Amino acid sequence: MTTDRSALEPVPAAAIQPSRLLADELSHFLLVYKFGLAEIGTKITILSEELAHRGRGNPIEHVSTRLKSVDSLTAKARRIGCPATLDAIRDRIRDIAGVRIVCSFASDVYTVADMLTRQQDVTLLQTKDYIAAPKPNGYRSLHLIVEIPVFLSDRVVAVPVEVQLRTVAMDFWASLEHKIHYKFEEDVPAALRDELTEAATDAARLDERMERLHAKIHGPRR
Ligand code: GTP
Ligand code: MG
Repeated sequence: MTTDRSALEPVPAAAIQPSRLLADELSHFLLVYKFGLAEIGTKITILSEELAHRGRGNPIEHVSTRLKSVDSLTAKARRIGCPATLDAIRDRIRDIAGVRIVCSFASDVYTVADMLTRQQDVTLLQTKDYIAAPKPNGYRSLHLIVEIPVFLSDRVVAVPVEVQLRTVAMDFWASLEHKIHYKFEEDVPAALRDELTEAATDAARLDERMERLHAKIHGPRR
């Protein structure tokens, strides 16, 4: 058996420094996004509990949060041609902190979005309404980028958070579509793609029908 000596040679510190430094810096950089997520998360919990307490049914079905990992952050930076500097990443990548709010009905999506963005310390930076204008594949959701102040020991940082709001039916569709994309590594057969788009239309019809039924029983939600 021969031994590859080169694998045993000590690596000069200078050679590993840059990437390790960036990874360390990045995980420190991600801290404020974690705090931003906690701030928005608390706001949503308050809304959800208060709305449930009113006794007219809670429009918020469930909530999930996610923080981009260092790996997916660097992958996205590379994909969009963003320089690997913290300033550039801060400016150009605004979905580092993400919240998904799943509501019962489409009208609830807009009600909850309003309740959140009307709050004094929440600044709405961007709205993408894929419910009013679904993506060509049928994807529907309301996407907001909001900014929230985070109070650190010596300064206040405005942290952007991506908020995705959708109905249970939209969420069901999106999670299946995501799994299919993952399985086929972006190369989804045309027939399957068409059927998925049809299923999105079915889901939209179901949403409308459930909303009408709900309004018949309870009157429109206030
Ligand atoms: P990203 O670089 O992926 O963040 O896209 P973007 O900056 O163009 O924003 P966009 O609002 O289009 O999408 C942001 C996020 O919405 C994605 O990361 C997904 O979580 C979700 N999304 C958007 N389009 C689709 C879709 O066609 N299918 C599914 N399942 N999710 C989608
Ligand atoms: Mg994203």
